[in-house]
Amino acid sequence: MKCIWKVLPVDRLPLLGVTCTRALARLSLAAVLTGLTACGGGSSTPPAVDAASAATPSVQAAITVSGLGKLIFRDASLSASGRLACASCHNPDRAHAQTNDLAAQLGGPDLATQGSRAAPSLRYLNLTPRFSLAADGTPSGGFDRDGRAQTLAEQAQRPFLAAHEMANDDPAAVIAKLQQAAYAEQFRAVFGASIFDDPATAFDRVLLALQQYQNQDPAFHPFDSKYDQFIAGKLVLDPAELRGLALFNNQAKGNCAACHTSAKGADGRPPLFTDFSFDNLGVPRNAALAVNADPAHFDLGLCGPDRTDLTARRDLCGAFKVPTLRNVATRHVFFHNGRFSNLRDVVGFYVRRDTNPEQWYPTAADGTVLKFDDMPPELRGNVNMTEGSYNRHPGDAPALSAAEIDDVVRFLATLTDGYRIP
Ligand code: HEC
Ligand code: HEC
Repeated sequence: MKCIWKVLPVDRLPLLGVTCTRALARLSLAAVLTGLTACGGGSSTPPAVDAASAATPSVQAAITVSGLGKLIFRDASLSASGRLACASCHNPDRAHAQTNDLAAQLGGPDLATQGSRAAPSLRYLNLTPRFSLAADGTPSGGFDRDGRAQTLAEQAQRPFLAAHEMANDDPAAVIAKLQQAAYAEQFRAVFGASIFDDPATAFDRVLLALQQYQNQDPAFHPFDSKYDQFIAGKLVLDPAELRGLALFNNQAKGNCAACHTSAKGADGRPPLFTDFSFDNLGVPRNAALAVNADPAHFDLGLCGPDRTDLTARRDLCGAFKVPTLRNVATRHVFFHNGRFSNLRDVVGFYVRRDTNPEQWYPTAADGTVLKFDDMPPELRGNVNMTEGSYNRHPGDAPALSAAEIDDVVRFLATLTDGYRIP
């Protein structure tokens, strides 16, 4: 596919720009569809793009697959309530995360059904590898807090259909709504005039467009935090931020970088503050989640109940994906169950979980602290007790003092996107 506008007079650029954009849109579409088929991330039938109709010239068709994804992402009409879009829980102005203080968001046809996990930020997911188990059985990668979706396209099915989210009955219901959208014509122009004849294929294209949008739109990965500008040599961090960074990296202190990678990659790529691994931190149970009213209910991450293929791996019960810490200072709630609501408490939990468990867990009538109360007793041995900063015992000094915790929190605030040098 050759874009020829280089050799043409400037006054013809806008018109030909359309042609080139469409050509490129179709090119990248083809590339992605190939990938999707190869990895089985989309439908089981090979996707058929109606190339002839996609090639019909039309100014409207200048929209890219990613541009369509952007419109879909913000479209609340695609939900059963008519009031919930992807952007409602993943607000583009709030690092693509939630904007309220709820532990889990409300969805369903009347926005009255509570979910069971905190809404994560969608920033920097484009570099997440597919879920895999290493030869020794160690899990890594994948989407959702339990890594159960292999691709962003596969992930996007769930919010459309989940009863506690956009709550559509089936893919056809989503497509019926999309046909009423202001951008329905653009959708046809990109994916073929007859695309709506087959709702299953049309739904696959919706998922594909959302994946392209998240992967390609720079708003999802701007790499322009204060820390990015620091490692690029454009500014110096404040003394407290530098102290916090040192404590974050120091294995005998925070040891945070053991999982939340803070150094540039070998290829010079800025760090993502996750190594894509999974870990069990023993996060306390959150009574604010309705599902937890049932004492027999436990969200055990990798081993279920949301994820169903690893239930036999009891050693993985309670492990959740290490999230990126980029933009963490803008979050309202922390950890998979939204149990914490400020960053100081989160860092305090890491370093005083084992020295002062009574600060985080409930106490039984006889005075015993019910440590790791969000795991069934027989699985509590899965909690990570060896890596610093959680390798201590009651009576030991915490790995970080109160002043050091403040420094780490100051450092974490340098990971917020959009920093402008004053
Ligand atoms: C009602 C709130 C809500 C809505 C609406 C919603 N999400 Fe989410 N999103 C969540 C929650 C909660 C999770 C974590 C789910 C889990 O771990 O099982 C999540 C997880 C994700 C993830 C995985 C993030 C990661 O770290 O792996 C992606 C990607 C995502 N959502 C995209 C979308 C898209 C695209 C839409 C619209 C089609 C959408 N979400 C709609 C709440 C929502
Ligand atoms: C052994 C791996 C590991 C180490 C070391 C570690 N973390 Fe984490 N971190 C995790 C995992 C796993 C989660 C997600 C847990 C969950 O959702 O329940 C997490 C979550 C977080 C969160 C919440 C993010 C969010 O979006 O909700 C913060 C903040 C955080 N870590 C900061 C730190 C700091 C600060 C340190 C050092 C004191 C640290 N972590 C050390 C694995 C680790």
